[in-house]
Amino acid sequence: MRIILFSGKGGVGKTTVAAATGVKLAEMGYRTIVISLDPAHSLSDSFGIPEEKRLSFKGLPTNIDKNLWIQEIDIQEDIERHWGDVYRFLELLFNTTGFEDIVAEELAILPGMEEITSLLYINQYYKEGNFDVLILDMPPTGETLRFLSMPNIMKWYMKKIFNTERLLMKVARPIAKRFTDVPLPDDSYFKAVENFYTKLEGVDEILFNPDISSVRIVLNPEKMVLEESKRAFMYFNMFGINVDCIILNKIFETDHSEIRKIQKKYIEEIRGTFSPIPIIPSPYFSEEIIGKVKLKHLAEILYKDKNPADIFFKEKVYSFIKEEGGYKVKLKLPFAPKEHINLLKSGDTIIVRCGNFKSYINLPRKLSNLKPSSAKRTGNYLIINLE
Ligand SMILES: Nc1ncnc2c1ncn2[C@@H]1O[C@H](COP(=O)(O)OP(=O)(O)OP(=O)(O)O)[C@@H](O)[C@H]1O
Ligand SMILES: [Mg+2]
Repeated sequence: MRIILFSGKGGVGKTTVAAATGVKLAEMGYRTIVISLDPAHSLSDSFGIPEEKRLSFKGLPTNIDKNLWIQEIDIQEDIERHWGDVYRFLELLFNTTGFEDIVAEELAILPGMEEITSLLYINQYYKEGNFDVLILDMPPTGETLRFLSMPNIMKWYMKKIFNTERLLMKVARPIAKRFTDVPLPDDSYFKAVENFYTKLEGVDEILFNPDISSVRIVLNPEKMVLEESKRAFMYFNMFGINVDCIILNKIFETDHSEIRKIQKKYIEEIRGTFSPIPIIPSPYFSEEIIGKVKLKHLAEILYKDKNPADIFFKEKVYSFIKEEGGYKVKLKLPFAPKEHINLLKSGDTIIVRCGNFKSYINLPRKLSNLKPSSAKRTGNYLIINLE
């Protein structure tokens, strides 16, 4: 199976390009599902599906054409399906502490629940193997990064916090009951979390395997979009997810316009920035790209005779090199100013911190007692010396 994520700043054309890619792949005979992870769904808009029909989807995969399914994840429906016990506890907690029912319902959607639910589907579809290609129409950049960091966060939580919390509750529950009305989670809550985690296991190996998954960054030739995309690209590198192409969307083609001149400047910068990753250009259309026919037309322009399911670029994000008698880590980390980078060592892992995000480089056993001593930048790479 192949997994393709479309990511980028708000409004650049992620949904449109994801839908177009889906149409083309389905026509080529691949059983394709396009999943929207954006709570503000517009996938059905893109396919021109009428409102009344949409209501029946309820967040489940829906066949809309030969070989083509769409799914707009509906977190409320999914809570009922998968988060039952966790949700009921939170609802009870919020109600007891004096929130109105409706507010409690809203609040019980914890940050990260949407991302975790999506990961659950990805894992499920991968294991069931009913689809050939899974296309993910991502929410804007920030949430995409949260989505990609979720498997690691969950792992950390389960390993370091979960068991202690559970044990603590066992002891604290009977005592606390005497002093407070605020409910404490009972063991069904912990069972539900554990159950959930079991269903998620392995999803990181799928997402971070460059032979299965890749991100396509959608962007437009303008300053703010480019800046955000650069940052996103850096983080994708840190997370270790393969970026296999850049989709440069909404290029104006009329030569005399002022905007064309400005775009030209940014197009050059984009080429310099992302090279050697292939850049796929796509023009600005004067009419809305809605419905299968127009989406297919867009896909023809984007992919021409290429197969959209191919992996267009694949390069290792980090590698270990032996030089001058010592070992070094070569980490692909474009755009991160050296002064913002922090290097730490925890167990046999090097943690490269840049802003709020962390990248983890697990050292092979042979190098596990080495520590990062210094680093220098060469081009898009950070060379970390180990001592
Ligand atoms: N190449 C293009 N030419 C003209 N209009 C386009 C092009 N690509 C996308 N659009 C239009 O731009 C708008 C935003 O596109 P789309 O919804 O695909 O972006 P998005 O990145 O998914 O946005 P959001 O971040 O809000 O989810 C839509 O109205 C879409 O029809
Ligand atoms: Mg969208």
